[in-house]
Amino acid sequence: MNDNITPLAANEYDKKINNTIPYYQEFYNQTLDIVEQCDFGHVKWLDLGCGTGNLEELALQRFPNIHFTLVDPSERMLEQAKEKLKDNSIQYLCADSASIPFTNCFDVVTAILSHHYMREEERRKATKCVYRALKDGGIYICFENVIPEDEEIKRFELLRWENYQQIHGKTKEEAKAHTARCGVHYFPLTVNQHMELLKEMEFRKIHVFWYSYMQMGIYGIK
Ligand SMILES: C[S@@+](CC[C@H](N)C(=O)[O-])C[C@H]1O[C@@H](n2cnc3c(N)ncnc32)[C@H](O)[C@@H]1O
Repeated sequence: MNDNITPLAANEYDKKINNTIPYYQEFYNQTLDIVEQCDFGHVKWLDLGCGTGNLEELALQRFPNIHFTLVDPSERMLEQAKEKLKDNSIQYLCADSASIPFTNCFDVVTAILSHHYMREEERRKATKCVYRALKDGGIYICFENVIPEDEEIKRFELLRWENYQQIHGKTKEEAKAHTARCGVHYFPLTVNQHMELLKEMEFRKIHVFWYSYMQMGIYGIK
């Protein structure tokens, strides 16, 4: 039985995520570069859907002055993160992004492939919570699955993603099973829908900084 909402069990997550998502490590590099560029000094950083704490492990090596708050609705994922980050002073909260209680507290909020499990209304609620949690001038950095608007392109890109997974060790059946989750277990938005969601929250600046296969990176500055 799985112990979280992703298709990967918490203790296998780190091994398998790179076989599933193209350029996953690059998501972290891009995120850290953007935070560095913001030059906040002592960064208060909220990571939503932190999973096993991979982003934090890298960030803490690169920036000594971060105070992290990690949120995930899966106890098992949080356990993995706590074990990985045990020598650091970090606040943990077992919750989903649509129910976080923070107001004007953070310089950075990240959600790296954590919000595609939510349906439209819940995702809107979560994004409102993100906006509320940020300080003025703070930045929301989000990587998410995207779905092309055109049906033919959508089929083409899903096949291309399946091929990536097979080249990286999944069987054809496993790759097909992953595709079958799209629109059933996770609910990707189009690029425009992602932009609109952030516009609706009144982020002062919005920018799509990454797009590859069926994932995009977007940030919004409050
Ligand atoms: C694909 S993993 C990504 C984990 C991590 N961000 C990373 O980069 O490795 C998705 C994570 O989102 C969490 N998640 C699922 N539903 C969520 C929700 N409603 N709010 C916040 N996190 C959620 C899952 O428990 C899981 O840890």
